[in-house]
Amino acid sequence: MDTLTAIQTRNSIPHLEDPAPTHEQMSQVYKGALRAPDHARLRPWKFIEVRGEARERLGQTFIETAKSLNEELTDRDAEKLLKAPLRAPMVIILAADIKQHPKVPEIEQIISLGAAAQNILLGLHDIGFSAVWRTGKMAFNPEITKQLGLQDNYQIIGYLYVGTSMGKEKPLPEHDLAEFLEVWD
Ligand SMILES: Cc1cc2nc3c(=O)[nH]c(=O)nc-3n(C[C@H](O)[C@H](O)[C@H](O)COP(=O)(O)O)c2cc1C
Repeated sequence: MDTLTAIQTRNSIPHLEDPAPTHEQMSQVYKGALRAPDHARLRPWKFIEVRGEARERLGQTFIETAKSLNEELTDRDAEKLLKAPLRAPMVIILAADIKQHPKVPEIEQIISLGAAAQNILLGLHDIGFSAVWRTGKMAFNPEITKQLGLQDNYQIIGYLYVGTSMGKEKPLPEHDLAEFLEVWD
């Protein structure tokens, strides 16, 4: 697939099944992630790849996080959190490793990780896999950082749910470019 075609045809897919990409395939995809733009080469990127039974550990971490936030959890809520990571064969946790820098604020480092995440989505699409980026209560929350065993400079900016499309793909949206573009010449 050429680059523009990959970018223009990427489609977020929530219905995902096995197989997940292999480790070898993922190392190629991460190589693309590590080419994200990065002010002052701070490399504010950390990816935690969660596969197989380890997804249940992640679900348990979600429950512990909700409890630490003093949330009233019904059995149904707990079950939902526990099962959330099972919606795809693989989940990539996007953790921004925020560094103190006189010229590079936190927001720029988060944007850089966002660009890396998009490169992952595009790389996966290019090799025939599908994914969806999700956030929710388990993102942008210091408690989840702690429960994941990360130092408190890390920000969890979201989760990429990755696998093979079950075939239920939405039509790609059609945009009127003129609504988004202003050209000065
Ligand atoms: C930072 C970020 C967070 C998102 N969080 C969620 C989410 O929690 N749940 C969800 O259904 N979609 C979420 N989305 C949107 C989907 O990832 C996806 O972009 C959307 O369904 C549109 O599909 P498309 O990417 O194919 O246009 C998020 C997107 C971004 C960029």
